[in-house]
Amino acid sequence: MKVLVIGASRGIGHEFVRQYREAGDAVTASARDDAGLERLRRLGATPIRLDVADTASASGLAWQIDGGGFDVGIVNAGVSAASGAGLTAPTEDDFDRVMRTNVLGPMRVIPQIVEALAPGGRIAVLSSRMGSIGSRTSAGSSLYRASKAALNSVVKDASLAFVGRAVCISFHPGWVRTDMGGSGADIDVATSVSGMRRVIAGLVPGDSGGFFDYDGKVIPW
Ligand SMILES: NC(=O)c1ccc[n+]([C@@H]2O[C@H](COP(=O)([O-])OP(=O)(O)OC[C@H]3O[C@@H](n4cnc5c(N)ncnc54)[C@H](OP(=O)(O)O)[C@@H]3O)[C@@H](O)[C@H]2O)c1
Repeated sequence: MKVLVIGASRGIGHEFVRQYREAGDAVTASARDDAGLERLRRLGATPIRLDVADTASASGLAWQIDGGGFDVGIVNAGVSAASGAGLTAPTEDDFDRVMRTNVLGPMRVIPQIVEALAPGGRIAVLSSRMGSIGSRTSAGSSLYRASKAALNSVVKDASLAFVGRAVCISFHPGWVRTDMGGSGADIDVATSVSGMRRVIAGLVPGDSGGFFDYDGKVIPW
């Protein structure tokens, strides 16, 4: 199988690369700096340099993956934002940083990945349960939640725009022990990623446009 992972220098993205490589799959994966590219090379992946928030870099993805014939594309790159209760207005800089990475980035790269997919290919996008409006019971972390809710809208549009060409889904990876999730999170990266790999392997066209937990449970939008 051929796999593409966007945002794989560390954390969940890096673990996707490690597990797919361990399973014998051919993996192309992106990082933003030399150290991240070297870590991917050491796992036996083909490294590509990509910053999804940078216009020139993101628009150059297509030629880097042209003819890839990927069976699976994983859009993992994301950043967190300040947490806090209630509704607080972010600074413009924070708004731009989070929305450019978590929303504009996937809007830029998903159409380019679709062009490089094999027939029947799947695209899994790392969203978050914090983006779910349907399961929300209290206010807080408004900027991060808004970015992931917007990302979910992008994934739903992708599922409709590319119907018959790609199965597109959103994932909540669980609360995972990474730089972003912190050391007190519920699960380790291996558990999160092995669960998501199982879900990806079992996807059928009717799942496109869905929002799933790492263990396959459906999450309300
Ligand atoms: N951990 C959790 O509990 C949790 C829960 C829900 C959802 N998620 C989502 O899961 C995804 C991965 O989270 P994580 O915990 O693995 O986070 P992480 O440890 O902070 O890693 C984030 C990854 O995204 C990359 N990235 C950030 N900005 C980028 C950009 N502009 N262009 C390309 N790559 C970029 C980082 O690369 P650099 O090394 O270059 O910064 C890094 O590889 C994120 O989308 C996150 O929102 C995580």
